This record gives sequence, structure tokens and C-alpha cells, in this order.
Amino acid sequence: MKATPPKTTPDILAYHRETAHTYDSVRRGGELVWATKPRDFKVYQSLPEKALPDPSFLPEADAWAVLRGEPSVGAPVTLDLPGLAALLGVSWNLTRENVYGEAIWYTRSYPSAGGLYPLELYLVAQGLDGLEDGVYHYSLHKFVLTRVRSGDFNELVISRCGGTWPERPALIGIVTNVLWRSAWKYHSRAYRYCFLDAGHAVANLALTAHGLGLRSCLIHVFDDQVISRLLCLDDKREAPCLVVPIFGRGPLPGPASNSGSVELTSHALASDLDTYQDTAYPLIDQARRLTSLTGQEVRETAARWVGFDAGSSADHGSPAAVPPGAGGVDDLKKISLVKALWQRRSHRQYVQRPVSWETVAQVLDAVRYPLVSDIPPEAGPGLSVIVQQVSGLAPGIYRFDGSRHEVATGDFRDAVVKVCLEQGFTRRAAFVLFWHAPLDRLAAAYGPRIYRAIHLAAGVMGEKAYLAAEVLGWGACGIGAFYDQEAKELLQLADEEVVYALSVGPI
Ligand SMILES: Cc1cc2nc3c(=O)[nH]c(=O)nc-3n(C[C@H](O)[C@H](O)[C@H](O)COP(=O)(O)O)c2cc1C
Repeated sequence: MKATPPKTTPDILAYHRETAHTYDSVRRGGELVWATKPRDFKVYQSLPEKALPDPSFLPEADAWAVLRGEPSVGAPVTLDLPGLAALLGVSWNLTRENVYGEAIWYTRSYPSAGGLYPLELYLVAQGLDGLEDGVYHYSLHKFVLTRVRSGDFNELVISRCGGTWPERPALIGIVTNVLWRSAWKYHSRAYRYCFLDAGHAVANLALTAHGLGLRSCLIHVFDDQVISRLLCLDDKREAPCLVVPIFGRGPLPGPASNSGSVELTSHALASDLDTYQDTAYPLIDQARRLTSLTGQEVRETAARWVGFDAGSSADHGSPAAVPPGAGGVDDLKKISLVKALWQRRSHRQYVQRPVSWETVAQVLDAVRYPLVSDIPPEAGPGLSVIVQQVSGLAPGIYRFDGSRHEVATGDFRDAVVKVCLEQGFTRRAAFVLFWHAPLDRLAAAYGPRIYRAIHLAAGVMGEKAYLAAEVLGWGACGIGAFYDQEAKELLQLADEEVVYALSVGPI
């Protein structure tokens, strides 16, 4: 095996800089080669499938309450097979069939840059009623589980993640990226999009778990190599990006049968990924190498991202961002989480109707309300808002870190359209959110792995904005396509990079 190059030069910032959109880079993109477009569902060749039952119950939780992290009402569901069907059927499902000529494609409960859906979801199940212990792949288009390993691997995963796990999870979700699905269109920049997409999708999972009375957390620090082997991935094409334990059981028992020391043989299982006519993207390979962790690096990184305790939070996140008793959002509709998730879609047809600052402030609180995760709090991306049509707040650029800071006032609509690669719909949005972070400083403090976590955290907040917009009868649309340097200049960021943007407004 080849020696792994040192992780300091080039640094992860070099990947970020080299995948920045510039006037020239967006014109170099080239035509899409439809003959090589990968399928957006992973299909195994000849592995037994277990159908999930139709969800016999759905969470009744109110979407706004869940977004604001209010404690869930009622007893937690039991994570047996019907409970699992409810969790997956609500959070990760197909929402619309789209027909274009001969082609049919499906949109999902979570958005995805370019509708390319690079994510897959695996489950490590142990002691789940109705399901043999093992590692499963979830096919959302067929609503089935495919078993890729038999046995109890719960303890193995726990031992290869950072942080303290005082409780045994009822289930462990693992999200992976099939990079070529996104790189097919977005080339080297796709590595960023895969983590933004993952943030959107895991927010759905975590919020649905919360709606079902369960707790979850997002774990970025884990051993990529071991997890990849556990899932039997072809690691050239698919890479784990996040571990999501779902809690709802008792304290950890003694060591389980497959303890952390188990040796996993590496064998990628045959799937349609083998037929991909993929192109090599050295910049993505470099970013993967720089941000991956294995062996001792997991412990070192966990020690740098100190203080994480997977079992500490009662529900999801700390209530600090939400003022006590805050309510009174004018056009807030009482809709269920299920409805918000299932009707969510990207909206670009905004209407010119001002929204009130009070309502926007509540949305921003809900958006910033954190999910439990191992990211050091100071590494979470900062938020700037370009206000375009909000009554009670002058148009301009504002930063939000719990309170509001004015950066500049004025009409920035032309500049927003320009920065967002001339995407004209952004002009009509009531406001546009931009997430940014001092990537250089954070990578120096926490190691390059933090780059993944920052993008994923921005995606999580983006999903909350989408869902908050649904509650209000408004619309939202993610914006991964922006000129990086121009966005930074527009927002007057000195030492921070923009990682994501999203438009919101009445429709
Ligand atoms: C990370 C990310 C980046 C996106 N970037 C853009 C964008 O720049 N422009 C745009 O019109 N839509 C963008 N979208 C929206 C997707 O095109 C949309 O989610 C996808 O087509 C599926 O449609 P749906 O969201 O209505 O289900 C983005 C979505 C995500 C998650």
C-alpha cells in the first residue's frame, strides 16, 4: 500500500480556492455528457431484500415546534420495524414523480444540488425487533432494506467514533456520498455539494427522530476506513460522510459480541456503481485524503474537538437561541412535520410581498437552533442575511450571531443576482441567507476534517430554512452556485469564506 501523503500541504483551503467559481471557471464547465449520467439509486446485484412495512403511524409533531427544538410531546416510539418504517418513510422518501419525455425522475423530501442525489443511507441495527442484527442499506425508491452484513456491529461503530457515548443507540445511521453522481455535473466543486446535501438530508432524519420522541446526534469524527469496510463500499466511488446514532434505549451494557477490535475484511459488494463511467477528479481525491481520518487520527481529532457528549442533550440542541415564550409569528400555519417534509420543494417564483421582520427573526432563530453534533460550537458557520423586502428592517446586509449587526444598508439586489451566477430569481426573494466561516483558522485549530463538518452544518441550517418556509407558506431555494470571491466581498468578510446561500420569500 502506498504511503499516505502528509496532510498539511496542500491544505484543504487549496481545494476550496481551486473550486471557487470565477467568471472563467463557470464558462469552462463544458457540456453535460448524458450517456455517462449515473443513476441516483444504488442497486445491489443479487442480495436479499427485506421490505419495510407501510408506516402504520406517523409523527404528529408540529413542524414549527420541532424546528424550534421544543421538547417532544408523548412517549418515544419504539424503534422496531414499524418505528423504523415511520422514521425513514417520513424523513427520506420520494415526494414527486417528474416525467420529461421518456425520462422519469423523482424528487425527494430533501433537496440536492442539481437534483443529483449523491447520498446513500446505511443502518447498523442491533436488537431491533423484527430485524436481524446487521448492517443494512436503505433503498428509498423501493422502501426496502438490503442486508450487507449479519451480526452485531453496534459496538464496533461506537469504538471507531470520537466522543463519549454514555448510551447504546437504538440504531446507527451512516450517510455516504457517491461522489460521481454530483461530480458528473459539478466536477471538482461537487465535494462541497455532497456535504451540503448531506446536511439537508440528515436534518430531515434528526428532526423526524425528534418528532418521534427519539434523540439523535451527528458525528463527524470517525474512522473512514473502518466504516467504509463495514458498509462494504467500493471506496473509490462511495465514501462515508456522517454517523448518526439514534438514541432511545438504556445505558451501554458491557462489551458486545463484536467488540471494537474486530477485523473487517474489505470486500466491496457488486452494485450498479460498478458500471459508472466516472471521471477522476484529483482535487476531490485530494480533499478526501486531507479530510479523512483513520486509527489514531480519530482519537487525536476527537481530543481537539473536545467536550462532545452524545448523550448530554435532552432533545436536540440548546435552547439559547430561542427567546423564552417567543411565538406570535403572524402567518405561521400549524402544519405537521410530516406535511412540511413531504411538501418541501425548491421555490424560485417569489412574489413581491413584504414579510415582517418579526417573522424573519423567528425563522432565523429556528434556523440557527442547533442539532446535537460533535462540531465545536465556535466552528459552526456564521450567518449573514441580505434583506431585500422585509417590513420593519431596512434593506441591507446584516450579520446574525444571536443578535443582529448591520454591515451595510442599501439595495443589493443587483449585486445578489450577480454573485449568484446571474440567477435572476434571487432578486425577488424577501431575503437571502449566506453561511460563511474562517476556514483557514478553523482548519488550523481543528484539523482539515472540520471542512466537511462546516459544509454539512450549513446544509442542516439550509434545510431548517426550507422547512420554516413551508410552515409559513413561503418558499426557499438552496444556492450552491455563487462566485466565491465576489460573495465574500459583497458580505464584507475579511478572513471568512462563503460556503452556502439560500433564498427565501413568499410565493
Ligand atoms: C446544496 C444545494 C445547492 C443548490 N443550488 C442551487 C442553485 O444554485 N440554483 C438553483 O436554482 N437551485 C439550487 N438548488 C436546488 C436544487 O436544484 C433542488 O433541490 C433540486 O432540483 C430538487 O428539487 P426540489 O428541491 O424541489 O425537491 C440547490 C440545492 C442544494 C441542496
